[in-house]
Amino acid sequence: MSIRLAIIGCGGMGHRHLRGLARLQQAGWRDLELVAVCDQHRPHAESLAAEAAATLGRAPQIVADLADLPALGVVAVDITTTPPAHHTLACAAFALGLHVMVEKPMALTVRACQTMQRAAAAAGRVLSVAENYRRDPINRLARALLAAGVIGQPRFVIHHTVGGGDEMLISVWRHQKDQSGILLDVGVHYTDMLEYLLGPIERCYAQVRLHEPIRRNPAASGAAVAAGNDPAGVYGARQRQMPASFRATAEDALYATVCFADGTVGQLIEDHAGHGAPLWSRQIHGSRGSLDMPVDRTGVPLQLTIAGQPYTGSLLELVPEFQLDPVSAALFGGARLEHYQLDFAATDQRLLAVEYADFAAAISSGRAPEVDGAQGARAVAGVYALLESALLDRPVSIAEVLAGQVATYQQPLDASLAD
Ligand SMILES: NC(=O)c1ccc[n+]([C@@H]2O[C@H](COP(=O)([O-])OP(=O)(O)OC[C@H]3O[C@@H](n4cnc5c(N)ncnc54)[C@H](O)[C@@H]3O)[C@@H](O)[C@H]2O)c1
Repeated sequence: MSIRLAIIGCGGMGHRHLRGLARLQQAGWRDLELVAVCDQHRPHAESLAAEAAATLGRAPQIVADLADLPALGVVAVDITTTPPAHHTLACAAFALGLHVMVEKPMALTVRACQTMQRAAAAAGRVLSVAENYRRDPINRLARALLAAGVIGQPRFVIHHTVGGGDEMLISVWRHQKDQSGILLDVGVHYTDMLEYLLGPIERCYAQVRLHEPIRRNPAASGAAVAAGNDPAGVYGARQRQMPASFRATAEDALYATVCFADGTVGQLIEDHAGHGAPLWSRQIHGSRGSLDMPVDRTGVPLQLTIAGQPYTGSLLELVPEFQLDPVSAALFGGARLEHYQLDFAATDQRLLAVEYADFAAAISSGRAPEVDGAQGARAVAGVYALLESALLDRPVSIAEVLAGQVATYQQPLDASLAD
């Protein structure tokens, strides 16, 4: 029997999730049935319902209130709103006995994440976090290679990303501290990826900056939107309606040292205000070699170096047991992949399809989803450990942040949130 689903939040990511669901159904997985959509801005819900009618063959009902969902037979919701609403909507869904998948960041603050975890546990329902980067087949392979000890014992990781200048990143809210801020919005992918690859982060010390307090939106004056600033082509039309420039309140750069429980040390630079040469680097160095990782969702192969020499053999031969899950294998064209060649939208749909399949399997089987509330909260806590550390100008542990012992940065955010 199919799981009747509602998408709550019909903006950019709501439309991308719909395309992921359609991709999953085209590949033969029909466990989830979209029967309702909901958005506080009705035209967004109408747009999603119309696209669903065209791609899934049936228009979902537009609802204004979550309380209307059980009467439609809905048992699961997919929350793709902006972050401040995640925890209130999730808790309302749990109170109605619904299962929840929620976009990253799981919530705006660690305390809000923990409220969601408690509500899920009390309701006995699935709480899954839609973290997509780790599900990239290239990242799956990287993790398998590290676990097989191909580079020996990891010693340090370099994660550098620099670019963006003073342009708006996708939308105004991403630059507002009370809505998320870039460092939470993007950084939560990276804290999750770092833990996915190297295990728990223990503590960190960071400096953060707001380099570009005024952000420009070239789309407002009719300029073409760069593809990287309009992922999957779902934001461009709305960017033309956003202000041509605005004041940013959230920091846009961080420079940090990150210490992992196993002794690995990381250097994390995430600078969304770079005007110089764009930079991407995710390199993990170990006692035998290093692994150079491409930008997530590009399908570019990993580069392995052993004893100072580029490794030219097949990486898959080093991990004979490595297999992608059946849904990823069907969607990406094989259970054992070293690379893939798809455009961004096609890759995006496939990764979101894999998230949906994991959510459906967790509901049907009772097993935990891959990214559960605890891991979703750790990824958020990882970002706030960095922001709290910068504010206090001292190292901060994830444990302190999860225990609420360090929350100075988050206090005004918690005060602004509905319970
Ligand atoms: N995993 C990824 O790669 C990825 C990429 C982009 C966005 N996201 C995440 O997806 C979420 C949404 O981002 P987006 O880019 O779609 O933003 P968006 O602004 O395009 O869309 C958000 C939608 O939520 C609606 N909304 C806000 N509060 C609501 C509420 N209380 N009830 C009902 N609807 C409400 C808005 O009206 C809007 O339609 C964010 O958490 C973001 O971080 C993830």
